[in-house]
Amino acid sequence: MTTSISIPAARALMHDWTANPALRHHMEAVAACVAAYAAELAPDEVERWTVCGLLHDFDYERHPTPAEHPFVGVTHLRERGDVDEGVIEAILGHATYSGVPRTTPLAKALFACDELAGFIVACGKVRPDSLASLDAGGVRKKLKNKAFAAAVSREDIALGIEEMGVDEDAHFARCVAAIREAGLG
Ligand SMILES: [Fe+2]
Repeated sequence: MTTSISIPAARALMHDWTANPALRHHMEAVAACVAAYAAELAPDEVERWTVCGLLHDFDYERHPTPAEHPFVGVTHLRERGDVDEGVIEAILGHATYSGVPRTTPLAKALFACDELAGFIVACGKVRPDSLASLDAGGVRKKLKNKAFAAAVSREDIALGIEEMGVDEDAHFARCVAAIREAGLG
């Protein structure tokens, strides 16, 4: 099976299940980050990776518990039949408690961008020029302040970088640029 759902259709599905603007914004920001990685790692799959980012938390508002998220959403996607199992595996893998290993570049990128995207958006909110002047060093400095955006798992951000095998500063800079260029920060 291939992923035949379009980006606008994935966005519409996500909006249908998610009313919270911050949660919608989060999925857009993660989609922008993974799309930036797709441009380099899988240039023929930018749309597929974007869909994965847009849908990774689409069931969270309705089903936020670890017993249900992302499992209810995945069941729905399988019933629809327009999202391939690689995308579904990545969505399952971004939940560390799912037990599904992150084996593909997409699964690794989704996990590496998820918590970081939330953190970058939080950084932008407290800066006078939003993300315009935020660089990798600024992200690193903010991460050391445990009181700032305390809900963001520093451990998951570090694990994501390790799994992808990317340079930390390059990863931070790429995700800041992706969110900024998408007009999301
Ligand atoms: Fe997320």
